[in-house]
Parts: sequence; structure tokens; C-alpha cells
Amino acid sequence: VGPEVVKTEREVRERVAQARAEGKSIGLVPTMGALHEGHLSLMRRARADCEYVAISIFVNPMQFVAGEDFARYPRDLAADARRAGEVGVDLVFAPEVEEIYPPGDSTFVEVTGTLVEGMCAPHRPGHFRGVTTVCARLFNIFMADRAYFGEKDYQQLQVTKQMVRDLKMPLEIVAVPTLRELDGLAMSSRNAYLSPGERTAATVIYRALIEARRQFERGERVAADLVASATAIIAAEPTARVQYVELRDAETLALIERVEAPVVLAAAVFVGKTRLIDNVVLREGAPG
Ligand code: PAF
Repeated sequence: VGPEVVKTEREVRERVAQARAEGKSIGLVPTMGALHEGHLSLMRRARADCEYVAISIFVNPMQFVAGEDFARYPRDLAADARRAGEVGVDLVFAPEVEEIYPPGDSTFVEVTGTLVEGMCAPHRPGHFRGVTTVCARLFNIFMADRAYFGEKDYQQLQVTKQMVRDLKMPLEIVAVPTLRELDGLAMSSRNAYLSPGERTAATVIYRALIEARRQFERGERVAADLVASATAIIAAEPTARVQYVELRDAETLALIERVEAPVVLAAAVFVGKTRLIDNVVLREGAPG
């Protein structure tokens, strides 16, 4: 038997209240569907930590910028519910847009400061406001003990943590390492857009990041040199176009010049028309 699939906030609150009455801890994995192994690893982690596991599947219009792939984002609820069932998810919340944003809805939640100064933020104006606005709604509906986020969307993870801290939301954000294909490509629902040739070319992103990591391990500490090295490797791939490669403090996401504390080396790259992101964290004495 698969998980129960519900469409309304009221049903979620009922199911969660029931689980609470049974003394269960609640884990939430927010998703936009098109579930792949990366999502499943979040769910497995939630399953290991929590007694009741719920996921949301909601392609959130507010986090897509005009001209992006909102309309064609892959949607297959039946397949997603089946996959979620295979890893032991109890509840799938798959609301319509009006359930999350009813007519008259007019509140946004927005993190400001260095976290949204760089990386994806300037290229996707309003994106993180859309993410935090929907996550605040989802967190309030589920009242989970823990919510699980992938490190692949590194900026999203930090922004969400900051919102939870600032708004004193009573849940823990759990970060789960990026899952990769055998050739290193970070798993993403958007990989499905790639043609076979683009799929091969896309491996350049992680190769560039780990080459920079090797230089870091050999002692390179100058941010501009690490960034230049990764950028040059991606630029040598004709099908790929760098949107940004940035090295930032791993916590505040402030730009840095020399690596002295843990940093994140993050990239956004167009492969053909598909925009992909990836990152590695560099820290002293530990593999990234
Ligand atoms: O990472 C995602 O899939 C989305 O940004 C999230 C966190 C589900 C919010 O819509």
C-alpha cells in the first residue's frame, strides 16, 4: 500500500494531529515532485529519524521567475506517490495553488542580507522570497519536528535555516548531502531536460568544482584563483555557459577573498537551455 495522498490543509492537520496523539515525531520533506534518488535520500533520512513521515509535492509558482520553467516543470503525482511509498512515506500533501495561496493571500516571508546578495539571488529575483514564503506556510501546516533539505540547493538551505532561526519556528532543518550520478552529476529534476549530448556535457560542472577542491587541498587559498580555475574548466565545454562561479563563506554566504573558514564553491551553469547548480564545501582537513 502506498502513502495516503491528500490535497487539503485540513486533512494534513487531522493526520498530523492523529500521529501526535499516538506520540509520534513528525518529519517533513518539502518537494516540487519529479522525485529522484536525491529526494528519496531525504525521505529515507526522515524515515530513520522520525516516526511519521510526510512529504509535500507542490510546484510553487511564487519561486519561479518570469520566463522560467514553471509551466513545463515535470509533474507526475501517481509515480511520485509510488516512489514515496517505496521508502515508507506515510503522507503525501499535493495541494492545488489556491490551497496554499487562497484568494486574498498577501503575506510574503523574505530573508535579507548577505545570504541573498549573491549566487542565485541576483539571477532569480524573487526566487528565495518565493521559497521562504511557501516553506513558512508548509511549516505552519505540518508543525513538523524536522524538515529535510538537500545540500545541492545550498543557498536555499541556508536561507531556510535563517528564516527558521529568525522567526523562532519550532523545527529543526536537517541538511542532507547531495546525491550524484555515477559520473558525478548532481541529481536534479531538471536533469530530465538534458539531451544525451547535454547530459554528457553537464558532468563538467562537478569536474570543475572538484578540480578547484584539489587545488585547495594542495594549498591554494586565494578565492579568485579557485574561482578562475573552475570557471576555465566549464568554459572549455562548448555546450556549457557559466552563469556564476562564486566562493563564499559557508554560513553567511558573504564573499571572501582568502579561504580561512569553511567556504562554499558554488556554480550555476546553462547546459543548452537548462540551468543547473552544484556546489562543494571546502574546509580545512576534511573532504568537501
Ligand atoms: O527544493 C525544492 O524542491 C523547493 O524549492 C521547495 C523547498 C520544495 C520549496 O518549494
